[in-house]
Amino acid sequence: MSLLEKTKVGNLELNNRIIRSALWMCMADKEGRLTPQLYKVYEELLQGGIGLILTGYAMVDQYDRPNPGMMGIYDDSFIEEHRKLVDIAHANHTPIVLQIAMGGVQSFHPDLDSHRQWGPSSFTNKVTGKTAREMSKEDISKMIGLFTEAAKRAKKSGYDGVELHGAHGYLLSQFLTPACNQRTDEYGGSLENRARVFIELIQSIKSELGAEFPVFVKMNHDDYMDKGEGLVVEDAIQVAKLLEGSGVDMIEISGVNETSGKGIGPARTKINKPELQSYYLEPTKQIADAVDIPVILMGGNRDFKRLEDIATNTKIKFFSIARPLLAEPDLINKWKKNPEYKPLCVSCNGCYREGEVGCVLRERACNRSIDNK
Ligand SMILES: Cc1cc2nc3c(=O)[nH]c(=O)nc-3n(C[C@H](O)[C@H](O)[C@H](O)COP(=O)(O)O)c2cc1C
Repeated sequence: MSLLEKTKVGNLELNNRIIRSALWMCMADKEGRLTPQLYKVYEELLQGGIGLILTGYAMVDQYDRPNPGMMGIYDDSFIEEHRKLVDIAHANHTPIVLQIAMGGVQSFHPDLDSHRQWGPSSFTNKVTGKTAREMSKEDISKMIGLFTEAAKRAKKSGYDGVELHGAHGYLLSQFLTPACNQRTDEYGGSLENRARVFIELIQSIKSELGAEFPVFVKMNHDDYMDKGEGLVVEDAIQVAKLLEGSGVDMIEISGVNETSGKGIGPARTKINKPELQSYYLEPTKQIADAVDIPVILMGGNRDFKRLEDIATNTKIKFFSIARPLLAEPDLINKWKKNPEYKPLCVSCNGCYREGEVGCVLRERACNRSIDNK
């Protein structure tokens, strides 16, 4: 199966089946305003042949900022600056979807200015040492309202859809994670209850913006926590079915609840052997087999021929890529010319650093001899 032909998800046209996975660039200003550097990064990416862009996560609430330098979409004054970004993407014939997120108590921001510290229950985030304040039902309605208003602004800006960040231990995903959600009301306990915020949120966005407005969800297949504490793949399959039933258009499968403090993240390092690539393949296959909506395989996708094989032999037909596009924004064009081309990215995570995100390898003139390759 060719990955590089035009395709559709619902009514949304994609240039091809390779999607840029969300990348927070730490380039917005303190308020979340988009800066010239940020536009430049996207302009460069848009020259490189990508099928669809998922933006870095954007704040839906002024008082909830999981990371510094995130883009904002928390009031109407952001619409124009996002429209400028969307116009750049559309001028390059590429769809662009805004990822929206809340961190709640999971905030890695050193000078956290969040006054909410929300969580489904009162639990302590092992990474930040902060304890969540259990949300009331009014808080939950408010959270759904904040996301919905942000989605409305995204549509007004011209975005082709929104992706809800429901993975990695951020606020939405905390509802799915038993260790973070000990509620005894309709938002806790059974999996149906723990997934309820997602369902209500998707329904809220769809009822405001129309069923055709694309809503994607990024979700964990496993929280990688101690037994009984986290979501596992059997749960994730059920969640994916519930999301499908609620009208979601596409799901991207990630992993790891970063609140666990185990030090592993969804962006694995040292992918230096073919068998370490596409590291969420098996659980993503299981989830794709259980639903009819498109499912995106994420994490460690590095070999184009291998991705073609996966698309030919499984129900997985979409692939997202993040770090290699920091090293080579034109990677997809390189694959178009030569499907055997090996990306430069060595998954060293040097891109996570103080200040702006960027590829250290690229900055060091793409020195391939970095020691973990
Ligand atoms: C610097 C950096 C920023 C990231 N920002 C986001 C983000 O804003 N939202 C998100 O869902 N994932 C984010 N991720 C995770 C990526 O989307 C992706 O899931 C992960 O890097 C694995 O894919 P890869 O092996 O292709 O890089 C980020 C990863 C990195 C390295």
